[in-house]
Amino acid sequence: VTSPLRFGIVGAGVIAGTHAAAIASLSDARLEAVADCHLDHARRLAAQYSADSYGSLTAMLADADLDIVTVCTPSGMHAEHVIAAMRSGRHVIVEKPMDITLKAIDEMLRVQAETGVKLAVISQHRWDPATRRLYDLIQDGALGRLVLGNAHVLWWRAQEYYDSGAWRGTWALDGGGVLMNQSIHSIDLLQWLLGPVASVRAYADTLAHCMETEDTAVAALRFRSGALGTIAATTSAYPGVAARIEVFGDRGSAIIENDRLSQLSLGRDGREEPPPYGLTIGTHDPRLDRSEAAARNAAGVSATTHAAQIDDMVRAVRDNGTPLVDGRAGKHPVEIIIGIYESARTGREVALL
Ligand SMILES: NC(=O)c1ccc[n+]([C@@H]2O[C@H](COP(=O)([O-])OP(=O)(O)OC[C@H]3O[C@@H](n4cnc5c(N)ncnc54)[C@H](O)[C@@H]3O)[C@@H](O)[C@H]2O)c1
Repeated sequence: VTSPLRFGIVGAGVIAGTHAAAIASLSDARLEAVADCHLDHARRLAAQYSADSYGSLTAMLADADLDIVTVCTPSGMHAEHVIAAMRSGRHVIVEKPMDITLKAIDEMLRVQAETGVKLAVISQHRWDPATRRLYDLIQDGALGRLVLGNAHVLWWRAQEYYDSGAWRGTWALDGGGVLMNQSIHSIDLLQWLLGPVASVRAYADTLAHCMETEDTAVAALRFRSGALGTIAATTSAYPGVAARIEVFGDRGSAIIENDRLSQLSLGRDGREEPPPYGLTIGTHDPRLDRSEAAARNAAGVSATTHAAQIDDMVRAVRDNGTPLVDGRAGKHPVEIIIGIYESARTGREVALL
């Protein structure tokens, strides 16, 4: 009998609790150690799982027997911590964004190739049942020629959220605002569903918060496939309205709203052809939610999809495979976001490919 893979977490803040719970839910994973430069943060989390605590990543890497390190520190520190863990011979799972500059990300990829360890970047919404189903339908061609993909993130974050950590809302450590921090999930899904983005044009501004980076942004996208798209994102939509991914094609259309498939219309389902002027989309069919609703519970949503992604990494390590969201995949949404910032700054179209 092989013993479970041994995990260490660095950065014992908000999201680390989700990682710890996700690891604990998997039979082939065990949390051994937690490191944080605030030792009390590490101790608090470690105590819940009878794990060891350390006051730095360096100390944890030197002392603990670990197979996989998960990096949950502020975004602008990811490259430094991921590279240190990879150089120590450990596989690494890093929270989103992979890092906040392409230079840092390229260095992470270089060190990964050199060390031969595995690297996964968290994008847990790829494991939402609604996303999976839509991805499979698109791969089957069920939506026909894709013409339009939209990601709209209409959220609310109070000023206290930005004030709750010195790194939040800064260029140096958050790497951006509503795009780099909150909307990266939806942007990753959009480019996963519709394929690579070829170019962007954008506006971004800070309208309702006291922070350095943007709290509101819009972008127009052209995908390599020729399809067009939009991103509209804000953390100033009181009291928090919805996150929506919309995909439209000439044989079908789908809308995912708050991680659930709220609209799915497929020509192949044997409906009558729509009239020449089209149908007005009817009300939402509650049957669409059934499988998603069963897979959800209010407290466990986040840990459930994190667990699915961590399990994907465990399998990649066990079978010498590649995790679904590896380092190269983790770079894509960051490239799009940095292109949007450049377009907003220069007022020009930015080509990504
Ligand atoms: N996937 C998701 O849904 C999701 C949700 C929230 C946050 N995140 C990501 O997780 C990361 C952390 O976010 P958070 O909200 O948990 O932040 P946080 O501020 O709550 O926690 C960060 C922790 O890192 C520690 N830390 C800072 N510098 C360190 C260092 N040099 N060495 C060791 N520890 C250090 C801090 O003391 C703190 O405990 C960010 O990259 C964020 O984008 C992802």
